[in-house]
Amino acid sequence: MKDWSARQYLKFEDERTRPPRDLLAQVPLARPRLVVDLGCGPGNSTELLVERFAQSEIVGLDSSPDMLRKARERLPKCGFVEADIATWTPAPHTDLLFANAVIQWLPDHTGILRRLLEALPKGGVLAVQMPDNTREPALVFQREVAESGPWADDPEVKAAARDDLPPPEVYYDLLKSTCAHIEIWHSIYNHVLARPQAIVEWFKGSSLQPFLSPLDAAAKKQFLAAYTEKIVGAYKPRFDGKVLLRFPRLFIVAVR
Ligand SMILES: C[S@@+](CC[C@H](N)C(=O)[O-])C[C@H]1O[C@@H](n2cnc3c(N)ncnc32)[C@H](O)[C@@H]1O
Repeated sequence: MKDWSARQYLKFEDERTRPPRDLLAQVPLARPRLVVDLGCGPGNSTELLVERFAQSEIVGLDSSPDMLRKARERLPKCGFVEADIATWTPAPHTDLLFANAVIQWLPDHTGILRRLLEALPKGGVLAVQMPDNTREPALVFQREVAESGPWADDPEVKAAARDDLPPPEVYYDLLKSTCAHIEIWHSIYNHVLARPQAIVEWFKGSSLQPFLSPLDAAAKKQFLAAYTEKIVGAYKPRFDGKVLLRFPRLFIVAVR
């Protein structure tokens, strides 16, 4: 994954911060010693952790220098580290690993989830939220445009689509044998966006990024034009001109 743009991601900060709020509400901890926000992005999820756990040590971790720069500006008193979750291991006194909207990007993410949970002390919590939206029109259109343009044979574009998440049963079987308690649920958000083109802007800050980053400026423009046309055709404005972006998400809270 190439570097992310904090500015693009934050265009929809309120909407993007609702799932981590809902995830955090289900974390059954009062005073964790060390909390690590995995894939902390520009610090929006880290800020929620700082508000909730004022007495705890909070660290944000991300692989993107641009995201970390924004996060440090936002929360100058917090610790931030640049690392890849795939190879990173928590310190022994880590009581909460919070991972909002990041684990779905990792190859072999199920193996990584299990490894992270096993690394926690007894009572430690792994809290995860992942978009489960690969079958939604907005994501299907990304794959269709990728397969039909002059970029179709580019190996990076070919590899850009995320795999579907496995069903909840897979996470249960994977994690339950190594934890005392587990909660798994889906929520479907219907984000209210100003107009259909806002859906394109939303995904430019996330799942479109791997499709666009290998392309030169002209090809990017062409890709976005083809994608926008499909979005405008499928996401119809409501009576007031706004559109609803349907967005299913999977949540897991596992207590070691
Ligand atoms: C969609 S953002 C989530 C930001 C924030 N957690 C939130 O709740 O809105 C995903 C973040 O994960 C980071 N990321 C992606 N792959 C990563 C990896 N392998 N290791 C660490 N961070 C990663 C990206 O740089 C990006 O900042």
